[in-house]
Amino acid sequence: MSTVQVPEIKKGLEGVYFTVSNVSAINGQEGRLVYRGIPIEALAEHSSFEETSFLLIEGRLPRRDELETFVQTLRRNMDVPGQVIDALKKLPRSTHPMDALRFGVSALVGFDAEVMDPREGLALMGKDEEARRAYWEKGKRMGIRLIAKFPTLVAAWHRIRQGLPVVDPLPDLSHAGNFLYMMFGEKPTPTAERVMDVALILHAAHGMNASTFTAIVIASTAVDMYSAIAGAIGALKGPLHGGANQLVLAQLREIQARGGVSRVEEWLEELLSRKGRVMGFGHRVYKAYDPRARILKKWAGELAKEKERELYEIAVKLEEINIQKLGEKGIFPNVDFYSGLVYGALGIPTEFFTPIFAVARVSGWVADVLEYWKENRLIRPRAWYSDQVWDRPYVPIDER
Ligand code: CMC
Repeated sequence: MSTVQVPEIKKGLEGVYFTVSNVSAINGQEGRLVYRGIPIEALAEHSSFEETSFLLIEGRLPRRDELETFVQTLRRNMDVPGQVIDALKKLPRSTHPMDALRFGVSALVGFDAEVMDPREGLALMGKDEEARRAYWEKGKRMGIRLIAKFPTLVAAWHRIRQGLPVVDPLPDLSHAGNFLYMMFGEKPTPTAERVMDVALILHAAHGMNASTFTAIVIASTAVDMYSAIAGAIGALKGPLHGGANQLVLAQLREIQARGGVSRVEEWLEELLSRKGRVMGFGHRVYKAYDPRARILKKWAGELAKEKERELYEIAVKLEEINIQKLGEKGIFPNVDFYSGLVYGALGIPTEFFTPIFAVARVSGWVADVLEYWKENRLIRPRAWYSDQVWDRPYVPIDER
């Protein structure tokens, strides 16, 4: 009998490098994040979401004229066809905004004038440099159109759900400002627009996270950008990934209902005793404080008014006690811990927190797919067949 060599299995692909990417990088030990080498703190302070998206996609900061052209391209492409809005209106109102967004992205593909013949993707694998470049450029244009339309889709679903008219974007507002304008039907205050802009910058890219990897896996089959992005939205929805931000606020509210700050420790001990997870804490790569959380904590503190003040204080206490308990395991607040408080202060409904993550992360997805397409290789790993049975008899249905 031959002995079978069991391969090493890397559950969750932890620590596995499958490609090279210079789009964004995390130093998990030191709690550092860079986009194209630029620290996230500098981008959050000086950049805009539009400029950051250019940086991620093109690999460098734009000149003034390039930025203006990019901004105009985004604005020109923010509109969503009426038929897609009508299709959204047919969804049950209970549909989660992430599902509505995924549906909207899938519906948009047929309205894209550059919609691809599936054979076009083969250019990525061929020797014809020009054809490969043309496919890549087309993918980039599609990606930028998607970045432009995400806020419109998300805001449209918010309005439809409330039985309110859908609001068209305004040409003179920023990407972040337009998102808030389309959500609420009135121009945001400069503070609200800036905070949203910072939140979008902070969420735009983050190494090889699950949704970016999903986008790349799909894109590696040489398919169109829409398919890759629709898949990534599905991955982002999960509570271990982007879905955590919505749950953080639910946890804080639960503690508030139990009596507030004085009950934090008791609540936490109970949760940890049943191996529960504090949402907005811990990360596969960071074993230190997430630099994005530090920036959002500052904003959350500044924005928290009377009603939310208590939630903010509960969050700060929870952070303090949780770090005492779990910090030595490398478990610290991640980006989601304070983002919900910030969005809540802007009046955004909880279910729309994860879609905001998507409005931002679509830039990173597009940038990473384009980077991967420069040297595309079908992603096709293996799963170990531990049964090692190769001749189990097929039993007819009546004999089972
Ligand atoms: N609360 C309590 N314990 C935790 C937590 C947490 N949030 N996160 C990890 N642990 C513990 C876990 O129970 C395990 O303990 P033990 O070794 O005693 O069994 C240990 O830490 C390692 O956990 P793991 O699940 O193997 O670690 P991971 O690398 O798979 O975890 C994670 C990453 C994000 C899935 C996890 O930290 C988690 O579930 N966090 C809560 C959800 C969350 O906030 N997600 C947002 C992630 S950041 C935004 C994004 O990128 O999407």
